[in-house]
Amino acid sequence: MRVLLTGGAGYIGSHVALVLLERGDDVIVLDDFSNSSPEALRRVEKLTGKTVQVVEADLADRAAADAALADLEFDAVVHFAGLKAVGESVAQPSRYYRTNLNSTLNLLDIMRDKDVRKLVFSSSATVYGTPAAGVERLDETQPVGCGVTNPYGWTKAMIEQIITDVQRSWPELEAVLLRYFNPVGAHPSGEIGEDPSGIPNNLMPFVAQVAVGRREKLAVFGDQYPTADGTGVRDYIHVMDLAEGHVAALHHLQPGVEAYNLGSGEGYSVLEVVKAYTDASGKQIPYEIVAPRAGDLATLVADPAKANERLDWRTTRSLDDACRDSWTWQSQNPNGFAGA
Ligand code: UD1
Repeated sequence: MRVLLTGGAGYIGSHVALVLLERGDDVIVLDDFSNSSPEALRRVEKLTGKTVQVVEADLADRAAADAALADLEFDAVVHFAGLKAVGESVAQPSRYYRTNLNSTLNLLDIMRDKDVRKLVFSSSATVYGTPAAGVERLDETQPVGCGVTNPYGWTKAMIEQIITDVQRSWPELEAVLLRYFNPVGAHPSGEIGEDPSGIPNNLMPFVAQVAVGRREKLAVFGDQYPTADGTGVRDYIHVMDLAEGHVAALHHLQPGVEAYNLGSGEGYSVLEVVKAYTDASGKQIPYEIVAPRAGDLATLVADPAKANERLDWRTTRSLDDACRDSWTWQSQNPNGFAGA
């Protein structure tokens, strides 16, 4: 299969590119490199011994997207391109809506023009917003968009709706919405991994930068949640398991729109992550407890049964594996791709 990855140079896209190439699929990456590095793709090529076709363009710019994709042939699209920082989306909502929605609308128009019918969308568990009290393991029947607290999350929920509406008007479209829980870890080689720009918003990249000495200490956002140790509990999924989930989704596409949770089904607290990372890295991770972060939930864990059954996919890597692989990446690349 020839697969177009929009935003394919980013954290998750680069791991999906690697898994597809290893399986013998052809990969085209469309990226504007506004928040990613071409070095990630050079490393994917080095690891696989295969070539990635790279097209540099901003998908949100219709003329640029048309020009970039006009002469390309591909059978399927995995759509990652978009802005993803929660705090930034609160400060710059128009930019988030414009970029994430326009790029998706342009992509769908171009797919329709070219009659490319297979689409996997990089969505997020954030679309579940604030689940009803007592619901701790979320399945796909949970309502979408209730109590979403930020524009980034709204763009994901809106794009899910856009794809659903477009499919109604174009019944041949085969679409899957993948709702990621908390992606962590790196390829075990340490050649590619998560390279956030600026101060990391997410837990594991922040912990990794503390371990490597780039940051002094972790701020733990609250220790009075109704969880075993009082800190927030999340479902951390190894990025290689996540990448394999995309491949499984691509191979189970059928006309319609189907949503799948990609998570492990197991929750770990912030302090459990700190402990696992300390063990994996052999480094002290100093931390202090601070006030809870606005919009955070106590617990968010996937019920991945639908993906397990229908995609014949399940996670096989542990939190310890993710910490080990994250540390290999972070210690070999203390400044991310910028140091390459
Ligand atoms: C966050 C986003 C979510 C997005 C996801 C992408 C929010 C409210 N949610 O999820 O929309 O899809 O990232 O991966 O921002 N924590 C600390 N200290 C830190 C960072 C995090 O204690 O410096 C805690 C958080 O309070 C939480 C856990 O670690 O309990 C995980 O946080 P994070 O990695 O930011 O992910 P989410 O908040 O689950």
